[in-house]
Parts: sequence; C-alpha cells; structure tokens
Amino acid sequence: MGRYIIAGNWKLNKTPSEAGELAKALTEQTVGAGCEVVIAPSHVALARVAEVIRGSRIKLAAQNVSQHSEGAYTGETSVSMLKDLGVEYVILGHSERRQYYGETNQIINAKIKAVLAGGLKPILCIGELLEEREEGKAATVCRTQLEQSLAGISAADMAEIVIAYEPVWAIGTGKTASPEDANEIHVICREKLASLYSEELAGRVVIQYGGSVKPDNVRALMAKSDINGALVGGASLDAASFASLLRF
Ligand code: 13P
Repeated sequence: MGRYIIAGNWKLNKTPSEAGELAKALTEQTVGAGCEVVIAPSHVALARVAEVIRGSRIKLAAQNVSQHSEGAYTGETSVSMLKDLGVEYVILGHSERRQYYGETNQIINAKIKAVLAGGLKPILCIGELLEEREEGKAATVCRTQLEQSLAGISAADMAEIVIAYEPVWAIGTGKTASPEDANEIHVICREKLASLYSEELAGRVVIQYGGSVKPDNVRALMAKSDINGALVGGASLDAASFASLLRF
C-alpha cells in the first residue's frame, strides 16, 4: 500500500489568525512523496486557511458538519457551505463528538451520507474506550461502529471514505497503542470491510491510526502492514512537529 494520508485535527485550538500562520508555516515544509497532507482547523478558520494553502499540496478538512442540507438548524454548517470554502474532507464520528455531543452511529451514518452526496470525503473515526479494551471487546466495538456507521453505503461511495482508528484511551493521553496492537485492529477493520464490500475494496481503503502520534513514534506505526496514515491532534498544532510527522 503506497498511499498515506496524514491529517492534523486542530480541534478547539487556533484563532483564524493563528490558524493562518500555522498553515503558512506548513506550506513552507517539504513533504515525503506518496504522503497526502490534510489539515482540519475550526470552522471559523477554514476560509483563512483555504486562502493560505491555495496552490500547495495541503488539503483542507472540516471537523464536523450537519447532516441537514439547509433550513432551521441554528448554529449548524452544511456540506455545501464547506464545499464552497474549498473543503475536501470532513472528520466524522470523532470520539469527542460521540462523548460530548451525543453522536451515535446512526447520526454519523446520516452525516457520512450527506458528505458523500455533496462530493466531499468523510474521515470516519472509530475506536474503543479503555474499559472496552480491558474487557477484550476492542475488536467487537470497532466492527459494530463500522457496520452501523456504513449502513446503506455503496461500494462506490466506500471507495471515497477514509477510516481513522483512534482508541479513545490513547487520545491526548500520551499513551499510544503499540504498533502491533494498532495494526491488529486495522487488520480486523479491513476484514470487516471485506465482508461488507469486497476484499479488493477493503485492501484499497486508507486506514489511519490516531492517538498520541508523535515525531518519535510515527515511523514504527507507519511501518505496519495495514496502517496507512495518521490522524494527529496535539502534535499537529506546531509546524515543526507536524512537518516531522510528514517526513516519517
Ligand atoms: P492526540 O494526537 O492529541 O492524541 O489526538 C488524537 C486525535 O484525537 C486526532 O483526531
């Protein structure tokens, strides 16, 4: 698998001015060949960042979107609004959205469908809680999240989706899954995708790992057979550290 996607999820960090500066610094960095670079600033910084990265290899992602296309949904942002700003990817189903905003697999499924219908690409996040891992349920949780989040999605649409495996206990904790443990779940996800679609399609899906990815552990993770990139939080907020991830 020669394709890697490294995405920076800036979460609730960086004002539009700060985001513009970080994006500018990233455009000045060299990136390894075969590595696609994506950054996900907050909604209010998207326009500024889009302007700064125009003409560069960096692609733009949003961190969330409404499942509705328009209407009386105060505070929401639609797929066509994001598309108009030059957004290509939308992160969906992040554990923080599941945990703090009550997003279920059903809501995530509706959002994936809205994103695909609008011609953007979802980055679908899945991953188990610490208790679930300790109870030996990590694989089952991930299989269920995939099955329910992808319900009713065609093979042609699946080819546009990126999966991000983010064990919740590894997010922002400095506790990375070992490359072996991470890869084991990636293989399980691919097997699940093969059963839902085909082995050929499952082999082509980009599956990122996320959870305390740092310059000093990225290489070992990316060396694993079924890991095709990273979804990075903390280490994506600084140009030098994110750039070093891009050159793994
Ligand atoms: P950290 O890299 O800060 O652990 O965050 C991971 C994450 O949640 C990316 O979406």
